[in-house]
Amino acid sequence: MKKLVREVGPWVDKERFWNREEELENLIELLDEGANIMITAPRRIGKTSLIREAGNRISDRFCCLQLDLQKSNSHADVITELSVATRPHMKLWSKTKDVFKNIISTAAVSIDSLSNNDLTTKFRDALLSNWQNKGDRMIEAIATSEDPVIIFMDEFPLVINRLLKGAEYKITPERLKEADTFLSWIRSITIQYKGRIRIVLTGSIGLEPILQQAGLSHTVNTFTPFELDPWDVKTAAGCLQALANNYKILFREGAKERMLKLIGSPIPHHVQIFFNYIYIDCKKRKNMECRKEDADRIFKSRMLSVRGHAELSTYEERLKMVLSNELLPLALELLTEAAVTGRLTVKAAEILRLDSDLDAKRSKEALREIIGILEHDGYLIKKKDAHVFVSNLVRDWWKARFGFQYLPAAGRERR
Ligand SMILES: Nc1ncnc2c1ncn2[C@@H]1O[C@H](COP(=O)(O)OP(=O)(O)OP(=O)(O)O)[C@@H](O)[C@H]1O
Ligand SMILES: [Mg+2]
Repeated sequence: MKKLVREVGPWVDKERFWNREEELENLIELLDEGANIMITAPRRIGKTSLIREAGNRISDRFCCLQLDLQKSNSHADVITELSVATRPHMKLWSKTKDVFKNIISTAAVSIDSLSNNDLTTKFRDALLSNWQNKGDRMIEAIATSEDPVIIFMDEFPLVINRLLKGAEYKITPERLKEADTFLSWIRSITIQYKGRIRIVLTGSIGLEPILQQAGLSHTVNTFTPFELDPWDVKTAAGCLQALANNYKILFREGAKERMLKLIGSPIPHHVQIFFNYIYIDCKKRKNMECRKEDADRIFKSRMLSVRGHAELSTYEERLKMVLSNELLPLALELLTEAAVTGRLTVKAAEILRLDSDLDAKRSKEALREIIGILEHDGYLIKKKDAHVFVSNLVRDWWKARFGFQYLPAAGRERR
């Protein structure tokens, strides 16, 4: 009987990691063949978990450096993260210290005694001038590792987005040049150190739409795209059962199926959130049986309520990161239209575009850009002649969050 420990939010690996056997096999096969990889998938599918678990499984033959670039704003920040990531690897760490020996020799305390946070500050200061030279030296050092190296760069698109758009979310010629320089540097590593260093890029927002906006798509053509889909229904049901086994919950006939139907697309995070609410409810009722009716009740009362808000608000927050303040209002309207009426038709999108504050020419481009992002990041999918939400859960949550007093496009037309 398989058991699984629940986790709602942070990435998972080892005993908290469910399935993905085929995906892991395919990803590892590509890495063994020397590929650089760009993982593309919608929000909360389990990208970070997949790269962490893959790293665990191949650590016997690869030196895996896991970088979380969530807070990185610049080239210097990325190289800092890379340098700190070598710390657990003794031989590489001594080479890193060699690259930074100037700051080390002037430091009052031994570098090995510093916390990772203090170390990050020190390295970042050292990299403020001439990041490229130190970056090149770090890469040269890493390439001499006995085992081939994989640099996993999670949240890479966030860095590029910040480099390109700055705090005002506006692409300027200077920012474009900076982003281009950085992307070209990454690309040159994949070419120059082919076979010795592999780079895996992923993130919670899509890289391609951002590069497309800036005309920089060519910079990632040395990366093999790797798509990660939601679980299939069988895998998601297996996950629910393994969680139930661990927490001694008895699913009555049809309960799991009802849960998955309510969620719509079996996105791992949504499956875990739902299970967690079921478990809390069972404990509260002091009855560990869960029926279809319980699934219905909990979906309505917990998944879509304000309390379910924290987990799902990431859909709203990440959108703000990708879109400028100028485009955000139209994007929110398009999503609310799709949530409230069930579908976003071409005609409705056109009415909302004309109703927006954007001028006519700009709004045409804006609409294309927004729809591209919403499709890529897994909010909407085109079905026949209209866009609909990929996930019923996100749709219903979005409706509860933004639907109040929303006037659908058809109503505006009649005004
Ligand atoms: N293989 C898995 N087994 C069990 N749970 C998973 C798995 N993958 C993802 N999850 C669930 O999804 C949550 C988010 O996982 P993860 O951070 O890996 O997703 P992500 O795609 O990187 O998200 P984001 O788009 O925010 O970057 C986890 O806390 C867990 O609830
Ligand atoms: Mg992630």
